[in-house]
Amino acid sequence: MKKALFAGLTALIISAPLAAATAFTDAKDAVQYRQAAFQLIRHNMADINEMIKGEVTFDAARVQKRADALVLVTTLPWEAFQVSGTEQGGGDAKADIWQNLDDFLERGEKLAADASLLQTAAQTGDKSEIRKAFGNFARNCKACHDNYKE
Ligand code: HEC
Repeated sequence: MKKALFAGLTALIISAPLAAATAFTDAKDAVQYRQAAFQLIRHNMADINEMIKGEVTFDAARVQKRADALVLVTTLPWEAFQVSGTEQGGGDAKADIWQNLDDFLERGEKLAADASLLQTAAQTGDKSEIRKAFGNFARNCKACHDNYKE
């Protein structure tokens, strides 16, 4: 009896923070969140791309700022794919994501890991290091989109 009560209490304690951990009111809200996160990724990435290509003046401090932002924003979208109902919440996400969620989330982690490597390269200020790390980072986008985005 005591044991059951304890187990019940433990379950309550464990589940309470989980229920409070979501930032989303509903599935639609979660879809908006992940799309907004992808837009932030796109903006920060595009600026580095233009500097590497020489379309705008290369500025090591600006690359650093964008890479720092990418380290954070590349961790954001994935949580919003794990809210129940998000697979029906609109957006361009393919249903395959939820059939292969582990693979999808691993790709998300890889993107964030490559953003960290880009940040490390940015700290050197060396353009060829940055170009190499940027290329590795950028490859993740198309690879995932080809499989999982409409
Ligand atoms: C692990 C998979 C994955 C990776 C990696 C990924 N994306 Fe996406 N991306 C998606 C999915 C899925 C969607 C569709 C989201 C939705 O509509 O709900 C999306 C949507 C987008 C959108 C459209 C957002 C909108 O407003 O509708 C942009 C822009 C985008 N991604 C940019 C990028 C860029 C740039 C990268 C690489 C730096 C990247 N993505 C990497 C899976 C990924």
